[in-house]
Formats: sequence, structure tokens, C-alpha cells
Amino acid sequence: MKQKILKGFLIALVLIVTLVVGVLSYVKLALPNVGPPPELVIEVTPQKIERGKYLAHHVAACLACHSERDWSQFAAPPIAGTEGGGGESFDIGIGQYHARNITPKQLGNWTDGEIFRAITCGVNKDGEALFPLMPYDNYGKMDKEDIYAIIAYIKSLPAINEGITTPSNSDFPMSFIINTIPQKPDFHPIPNKSNTVDYGRYLTTMASCVHCHTPQDEQGQFIEELNFAGGMEFPVPTGGTVRSTNITPHDKTGIGSWTKETFIARFKTFTDSAYISPKIVAGDFNTVMPWTNYAGMTEEDLGAIYTYLQSLKPIEHTVERFEKESMADSGE
Ligand code: HEC
Ligand code: HEC
Repeated sequence: MKQKILKGFLIALVLIVTLVVGVLSYVKLALPNVGPPPELVIEVTPQKIERGKYLAHHVAACLACHSERDWSQFAAPPIAGTEGGGGESFDIGIGQYHARNITPKQLGNWTDGEIFRAITCGVNKDGEALFPLMPYDNYGKMDKEDIYAIIAYIKSLPAINEGITTPSNSDFPMSFIINTIPQKPDFHPIPNKSNTVDYGRYLTTMASCVHCHTPQDEQGQFIEELNFAGGMEFPVPTGGTVRSTNITPHDKTGIGSWTKETFIARFKTFTDSAYISPKIVAGDFNTVMPWTNYAGMTEEDLGAIYTYLQSLKPIEHTVERFEKESMADSGE
């Protein structure tokens, strides 16, 4: 009797182990499964480079993450001369992710299709999954022509030899989970500008405002009922914690009472030529929002983003924007 139970137990154990090993090998070896990079040769024209430059600096803000930021200034503008050389590193407890050099020094041996697949599906040249800190889910919803323009532009950047080349690393279990995240893109044409809400939604998606302006639960999942309602926390390199604010049209807790002019002016304060950034003393209010990048958007585009945000459902959600480091935290 005893032996029978033991035998049954052993068989069950072998089955379970086989199943677990099977699932893990599938996740590790067969995923991500987004297909091969497309066969693609992007035709480069001055217009395309101009469009790509605008999107890469000011809307998709690739160069807010893939450049070094000057944290001694408010909103940490990108440091001139480091554009595309890589910059931001995110050590987020489940892994360490680096926005690496994307100048021709690093991407010179990638095909256009491989760059395209990385931006829109989140899979690198070697077929490995990228962590969705880079909002590739949103880039996969853009017009293909806009992605082509961005690629044409980043290929025209001066090669930066030093830059950041450190490979990213996912700790267990993220080293498995990450393979399930990349997805096939779902492209949409640019809406007609006369349809301001749809056009504004397109730009807001490309700028991934929602990624920062939505709080996450303990598992790191976005709390969708609070989309755009703010409250995501970011440690600030100069000390303290900043939280994204509520940008739904709620009257009291969001931006419901803002006019379009106020909204546009808020961004335009940070325009390169007009803006002299105040120096930050450690512990001062500072922010991760790349204001100086977005400031380069046209008034028409910022206005469309405003109109789209005002079309959302108002959500009552109060956020304390900044908290200084407490004495207990800083006493290292
Ligand atoms: C919020 C920050 C952020 C933004 C914005 C961003 N990226 Fe990234 N990007 C990253 C991070 C972080 C990685 C590394 C992810 C990883 O290794 O898992 C990455 C990886 C990449 C890679 C793969 C590089 C390699 O060596 O494997 C390319 C190419 C790339 N980004 C291009 C772009 C382009 C083009 C844009 C704009 C359309 C963009 N990124 C916007 C943070 C960002
Ligand atoms: C990297 C994260 C990040 C991204 C991306 C981001 N924001 Fe923010 N945003 C913040 C944080 C943090 C704050 C609060 C601190 C501050 O005022 O800068 C903020 C503040 C704001 C404010 C000020 C609201 C007020 O009450 O003063 C507005 C408006 C805003 N964001 C709009 C946007 C829009 C529109 C986008 C997309 C185009 C966007 N943000 C993208 C992090 C982000």
C-alpha cells in the first residue's frame, strides 16, 4: 500500500516537473514571438528627417531617455552633445534597464527592419525582449510613416563613441516574465488634424503621457480606472519623491479649470531659447517629466493634446506632487 502511494506520488512529481520545465522552456526559448523583423529599406528624404527630428525630440521624446540629463537643473534637460548616446538607467527592483546608445555607433549594424521591430514590438536585434519602460506598446499604435521618419532621423545622428552600452538585466522571475510582454504592433494612420480629439489622442499616445500619469498597483500593473489621474511615484536624483499629477478634466483635483492657453503656456515656459533653468539645490522640488523636450511641440499639437485630455472622464484624485526626503531616508 505504502509503496503504491509512493509510486503515485513519484509519477505525479515527475509530471509536475515536466510540465513546469516545459512551460519555462517555452517562455524562455519560444517567446517572444513577434515574428522576424520586416524587410525594410527606409528611403531617406530631408522632409522625413525633419519630421523624425520633431517626433524623436519633442513628441515620442526618445532623446529624453536616450541622452544624458542634467539633474542640476529643473526638469533635467538633456545635455547638448549627448543626444542618442544613451543616458537614463532604471534600477527598479526587478532588474536594471539602460536606455543605451542608439546612435549609428551602436545601431550601425542593425537593419532598418530590426530597428523598426525594436521600437514597435520591443524585441532587440538578437530576438531578446526589451523591458516596456520604453513605451513600445504605444509606438506600435502609430502610423508606420512616423516610425520610418524617426528611424531616418536617429540614423542621421552623429555617432557617439562612448555613450551607454551596458546591457540590461532582468532578475528572476522577470527574466522569464519579460518574454511574454512584447507584442505584434497594431498600426493606425495619423488622424486628420481637423478631428482634434483623435489627432490629440494620437499625439498623447505617442508621448506616452499615460505611462507616467497613471498609478500602479503593488504588482506593477497600471490601475486603469485611474488612467491620467496621476499619483505614480518617482524618486528624484536630487532628493525627494515626485508624483505625477491628475491631468483628467476634474475641476478641483485635475486640470478641468485650465484654459487651452494656460496649458500651452505651461509647456512653452520651458522653450530652449526663452528658458533659463533654475539651478537645483539638493532636496528642492524637481521633476522627471521631460518638460524641455515637450516644450518644442507646436502650439497646434499641444492644443490638440489639451483638447483630447479635456474629452476624458473627470476623475477625482488628489495627489501630493512633491515630498522632500525625510531625515530618516537621507541619513545614509
Ligand atoms: C522612457 C524612456 C524611453 C523612451 C522614451 C524611449 N526609450 Fe528606447 N529604450 C529605453 C530603455 C530603458 C531601453 C532598454 C530596454 C531593455 O534593455 O530591456 C530602450 C531600448 C531601445 C532600443 C534597443 C537598443 C539595444 O541596444 O538593444 C532602441 C533601438 C530604442 N530604445 C530606441 C528608441 C526610440 C527610437 C525611441 C523613440 C521612438 C525610444 N527608444 C524611446 C528607454 C526609452
Ligand atoms: C517621465 C514621466 C512623465 C511623462 C512622460 C509625462 N509626465 Fe506630466 N508630470 C510628471 C510628473 C512627475 C509631474 C509632477 C511634477 C511636475 O509638475 O513636473 C507632471 C506634471 C504635469 C503637469 C502639471 C500639472 C499641474 O497641475 O501643474 C501637466 C499639465 C502634465 N504633467 C502633462 C503631461 C502631458 C500632457 C504629458 C505627455 C505629453 C506628460 N505630462 C508626460 C511626469 C510625467
